[in-house]
Amino acid sequence: IGKNLIVLDEVGSTNDYLKKLGADGCENGTVAVAREQTQGKGRLGRVWKAKKDDSITFSFLLRPKIAPSEVSSITPLAGLAVCKAVREFTGLDCRIKWPNDIIIGKKKLVGILTEMSAEFDAVEYVITGIGINADTQDFPDDIKEKATSIYLATGGHFDKNKFFASVLNHIEEEFIKNGLKLSDIALKEYTSLCATIGRTITFSRNGRSVKAKAVGINRNGELIAELPDKTTKLINSGEVTVQGI
Ligand code: BTN
Repeated sequence: IGKNLIVLDEVGSTNDYLKKLGADGCENGTVAVAREQTQGKGRLGRVWKAKKDDSITFSFLLRPKIAPSEVSSITPLAGLAVCKAVREFTGLDCRIKWPNDIIIGKKKLVGILTEMSAEFDAVEYVITGIGINADTQDFPDDIKEKATSIYLATGGHFDKNKFFASVLNHIEEEFIKNGLKLSDIALKEYTSLCATIGRTITFSRNGRSVKAKAVGINRNGELIAELPDKTTKLINSGEVTVQGI
């Protein structure tokens, strides 16, 4: 990952940028990183906003020989890799908030957005975009309580290039080691670093909000929730709120 590395001063969104390159046939493992995004995208139609050089915003493109249904393991593997990289590089006790945030305490440090292009049940390419709040010293008032950065959590600046290289290495290692799947070892590591598992969650079903206990994730990256009547339910998308974080 990153042999073909494109460094951009400013771009709309690194995910959208790679989508164009993907359609033009760029190589597996291509990475685009930008100092600033003007149209940064989050999940569920949200925006990812950051001032120039405040966050590390990048996307990588893979051309895996897998079915569209197997793409769901990519985000948790990427989350696991980034979580391990942050912990190793900074010593911070960051955790994964299912499905795809990395948090410190209750505050978000990293967001991940995976998108794919598939045709006739075969994946053409998958793009995973990652935004890491790195040097942000001041968040806007509306997210101050909900977001943090490596700078704020460690109290200092750090070598962003070295850190970025470590993040890419961790992603490559995790993907090679696990063959793009949530292997037993990846599931175990994910579970031990996941802040959601073991907590009470609330999700909405048929317009009603239902409480359950998160007990694990499965090989598809779906959250396994235990309902009060002890039946289990798999949750794979939409909004889940977690009590306590
Ligand atoms: C989320 O938390 O909802 C996901 C945020 C993903 C943000 C990253 S920044 C790099 C890449 N380009 C985008 O437009 N979005 C992702």
